[in-house]
Amino acid sequence: VPHATPLGFAGFLRTATRNPLEIWGTRAFKEPYIRGSWLGVPNIVINDPAGVRHCMVDNARNYVMQPLRQRLLRPLLRDGLLTAEGPLWRRTRKAIAPVFTPRHIAGFTDAMEVRSRRAADRLAEQEGTVTDAAHELTLLTFDILQATLFSDDIASEPEAFARSTQQFLGSMGRIDPLDLLGAPAFLPRLRRLKGRKSMLYFRGLIADTIARRRVQIERDPDGAPNDLLSLLVKADGLSSGEIEDNIITFIGAGHETTARSLTWTLYLLSQAPDERALVEAELDTLLPTLTDPNEWADKLVHTRAAFEEALRLYPPAPSLNRTALAADSTGGVDIPAGSTVLVMPWLIHRHEMLWDRPDHFIPSRFLPGNRESIDRFQYLPFGIGPRVCIGAGFALHEGVIALASLLRGLRFDYAGGAAPEVVQRITIQPLGGMPMRVSRR
Ligand code: HEM
Repeated sequence: VPHATPLGFAGFLRTATRNPLEIWGTRAFKEPYIRGSWLGVPNIVINDPAGVRHCMVDNARNYVMQPLRQRLLRPLLRDGLLTAEGPLWRRTRKAIAPVFTPRHIAGFTDAMEVRSRRAADRLAEQEGTVTDAAHELTLLTFDILQATLFSDDIASEPEAFARSTQQFLGSMGRIDPLDLLGAPAFLPRLRRLKGRKSMLYFRGLIADTIARRRVQIERDPDGAPNDLLSLLVKADGLSSGEIEDNIITFIGAGHETTARSLTWTLYLLSQAPDERALVEAELDTLLPTLTDPNEWADKLVHTRAAFEEALRLYPPAPSLNRTALAADSTGGVDIPAGSTVLVMPWLIHRHEMLWDRPDHFIPSRFLPGNRESIDRFQYLPFGIGPRVCIGAGFALHEGVIALASLLRGLRFDYAGGAAPEVVQRITIQPLGGMPMRVSRR
């Protein structure tokens, strides 16, 4: 089992805070297992699908969320599903699972389509100019989230809400060197202190909205808007505080991730004219016949395949980090108790042993007929096992609807010259945005 490229203590600290993706040398994309250590804690990277299955599914009970990730996210997301553990996680998952059924997701289709069409109209007005597609898509997924979460009913201050959401998301991506060094929680993280006041305001707006909706549902259970908030209020056994934590979690886990996956899809299509032509031809032929956008995610197979292939090459959540409770082993590799186990879509999705031409954009891998032969332990954009993304169906549905709405009348060409630099700030994103020229087609 090879060891990770040694960067030295200072080098590792610098790289891990600047851009954790740079830690990985070429061997990380070739080997089934890689071993390293940080502050005396063994780190084991698992690229072998059988090892992924062992740690994430068969023996999942032995693996908990890594303390570093918890230290970073728990102060913000508190008891939300992403950062809950043990009995609290089990109870919350059970309460929230029915919220994301296909029937409920289908109920959000209109909101997704209307908001996407509005974004397409806004972008059409920018024809001929270079725009930051990353920013535009962040606005779009935020708009969709506001509509599907609260039906836009977020107190009386939508602009202040949008601003504090951006500050909240910014503080989510900030890794302080003290976190990496495992310093005690009472030592202030200067990088995050600034956002404290706006976080209180942000939470206050959400708490007020929940309280108002509760009253509305008590008065008239069937008259309340059809959105995630109503479903959460009606769900079994969630307190208002827990609903607040989970709404913040949905914003934290579901907004940037979806925006980034759409951004990378537009970029990849702009680099592959043949693939883009296939998507455009599909939209031109099928959209006039598919009047119900609920059918899009199933019928627009090229659009969906391009989206899924973009999730392979640029998985917005590049790393699933766990800590082993008891000693374990997989594939002949020992995993001591207390080790950090990293299952990294970023590495597995581009692994030489697992994919033909791993760095190429080949959406046909995900067309019906081919897709079935992809091992589900080597394609993990939404994670795997008991903690698999609860919003995966929602995100795939939204992704296809947004892409179809944008690409049916518009074309996006990358206008940044050299290829964008890929950085990890919680999600995988292009450094400095994604400049694209918009044209009508
Ligand atoms: C969990 C990715 C969209 C809510 C996860 C995990 C991944 C992921 C990889 C597992 C993390 C782990 O095991 O450590 C993505 C990607 C998305 C997306 C790539 C978009 C393209 C969404 C949306 C929502 C959402 C739209 C909600 C509206 C959650 C929640 C969890 C989660 C609550 C925690 C589940 C649990 O621990 O039980 N997501 N996600 N995600 N995601 Fe997503």
